[in-house]
Amino acid sequence: MKIGIAGTGRMGAAIAQRLMGLNHDVAVWNRTPEKTKPLADAGAKVAASPAALADGVEAVITILTDDRAIDALYNGPQGLLSGDARGKLFIEMSTVRPDVEMVLEAKVRQKGAVLVECPVGGTTGPAREGKLFGFAGGADADVARARPLLEQMCRRVEHCGPVGAGTRMKLAINLPLYVYWQALGEALLLCRSLGIEPGRLIDILADTSGASNAIKTRGPSVAAYLAGRDPGPPAMTVDLVCKDLRTMIGEAKVLGGTLPAAETALKCFEDAAKSGLGSADQSALPARWAKREL
Ligand SMILES: NC(=O)c1ccc[n+]([C@@H]2O[C@H](COP(=O)([O-])OP(=O)(O)OC[C@H]3O[C@@H](n4cnc5c(N)ncnc54)[C@H](OP(=O)(O)O)[C@@H]3O)[C@@H](O)[C@H]2O)c1
Repeated sequence: MKIGIAGTGRMGAAIAQRLMGLNHDVAVWNRTPEKTKPLADAGAKVAASPAALADGVEAVITILTDDRAIDALYNGPQGLLSGDARGKLFIEMSTVRPDVEMVLEAKVRQKGAVLVECPVGGTTGPAREGKLFGFAGGADADVARARPLLEQMCRRVEHCGPVGAGTRMKLAINLPLYVYWQALGEALLLCRSLGIEPGRLIDILADTSGASNAIKTRGPSVAAYLAGRDPGPPAMTVDLVCKDLRTMIGEAKVLGGTLPAAETALKCFEDAAKSGLGSADQSALPARWAKREL
């Protein structure tokens, strides 16, 4: 299938690798052109603009930072929707407010095309292996059309409802995870005086009822931060976590609710970003808390 990926950041590039590995004909575009080079070296075509990308493919995938990025990519003068988009399938996978996807869907529909949202659980490793968890939103027929492609990216695809429902579910699944990172930092602080080697300490905490699934994959990274070793390249950054938490809190306000645990987690992540950890992996947060001066 001819697939275009607009936005080859960490997740976009990992998804491109996955789809190229399945022998799809993949074309890419990214605002910062250097980030397309490893994909071009591996055989991807590089389009001159989002419009040119959309022109040459049957399906376009986007996974971008936030609503401003979506607006720039879709609605800019050389944007994905600036040409003849009739009949095309757009799969929008960013983590944003539901209304951003709903407004976008209306614009895509006006162009005679189809939009399915599918934000994902899982980070770059699962993206490269096709093992994400997709939270799809869209009309039944549109999700059915997108499903074969979604299932090549995801180990599980849940159709949550119309466009907007997938992003709402995605915000919900991330909330306990971000609160967990701070709770883990506080648990590690309590254990500090025990002097247990970080790898063993994480192994103990991972094998208990209070553990999140995330410690099974990111535990070695937390242990590396604790030990002052190189944790490797970041997957989900502290800055992106702050964006997600602000999005959840904003969404709850619209619904008339409050999220006190998420608000505290946001404050802790924002402090970490201010201390210079904005581009570090989210797993830096618990280690920072455990190592702070008392
Ligand atoms: N990383 C994860 O583990 C993970 C997991 C699940 C979901 N997500 C979600 O997936 C999305 C992408 O995350 P990521 O980690 O791949 O982020 P990333 O590496 O920072 O990539 C972001 C992408 O958005 C593009 N972008 C940002 N602002 C733009 C603008 N104004 N105009 C055009 N392009 C713009 C970037 O282009 P440039 O390269 O030019 O900056 C890049 O291609 C986010 O919504 C995140 O919350 C991430």
